[in-house]
Amino acid sequence: MDHYAVIGHPVAHSLSPGIHARFAAQTGQDMDYIALEAPLDAFESTARKRLGEDLRGANVTVPFKEQAARIADRLHPDAERAGAVNTLRREADGTLSGFNTDGTGLVRDLVDGLGCSLADARVVLVGAGGAAAGVIGPLCAAGVARLYLVNRTAERAVRLAARFADQAAVEVLDPAAAGPADLVINATSASLHGAVPALPDRVVCASTLAYDMMYADGGTPFLAWAGARGAGRCADGLGMLVRQAAAAFELWRGVAPDVGPVLAWLRPPAS
Ligand code: ATR
Repeated sequence: MDHYAVIGHPVAHSLSPGIHARFAAQTGQDMDYIALEAPLDAFESTARKRLGEDLRGANVTVPFKEQAARIADRLHPDAERAGAVNTLRREADGTLSGFNTDGTGLVRDLVDGLGCSLADARVVLVGAGGAAAGVIGPLCAAGVARLYLVNRTAERAVRLAARFADQAAVEVLDPAAAGPADLVINATSASLHGAVPALPDRVVCASTLAYDMMYADGGTPFLAWAGARGAGRCADGLGMLVRQAAAAFELWRGVAPDVGPVLAWLRPPAS
């Protein structure tokens, strides 16, 4: 049996073990997947040790994604651009490959899950931390017309945009200058504090899809804000979570799981 884990701190409440157990059962893969808490000051030694001994691969979550990029022997372009890794794979020669499937998960959720047309879309991406960094490349690759980066602290958005200087779609905007969007994505951690990033009301209209990369049954403060301003549709990041896991599973096992039953398990359709 092959072993996998999600490494984070804290990690006890991660949904990933349940998601991957269902993917494995569904596709007949002989594997298990556990939650592994690394001490805050010892991610690198913990991950290296376990990936050198028993683990064939690992997901990496908060707050270790940037450190995971540093222990990989090679990085997939999405991970290199993001400066963050959420999936490590031990290769046959013992070296570690690093990937970032967060952006793939988001794009698949938008396109496959929500039927959103990204080609030519005007997108406002709010936030300039690791969560935002992970999704810019895949959103550009999906063909968005404009990707406006807005962040409370302007310098961070400017620094992040500089990493994507070759992407004509990317532009930094002051939050107060943001205009109507086809898609507005909250990549900030404001919801964790029950807060909503400051944006003008005009960003949201009846044709806007408001997306929060965080998830919460009953919605998030950002989605409540967008809904109250007439957003045509609101979605939280549960679909992104399941789809980034599916992309990691595929990288490890070479088989694509069906996300539908896992989404229905996590959030049963209202009867
Ligand atoms: P992560 O890796 O999850 O993105 P991070 O690097 O700490 O975490 O970044 C958090 C992001 O959420 C930042 O863009 C932060 O804005 P600042 O750069 O101005 O700090 C944003 N954020 C957090 N709380 C916020 C709030 N109450 N309003 C607006 N933005 C907020």
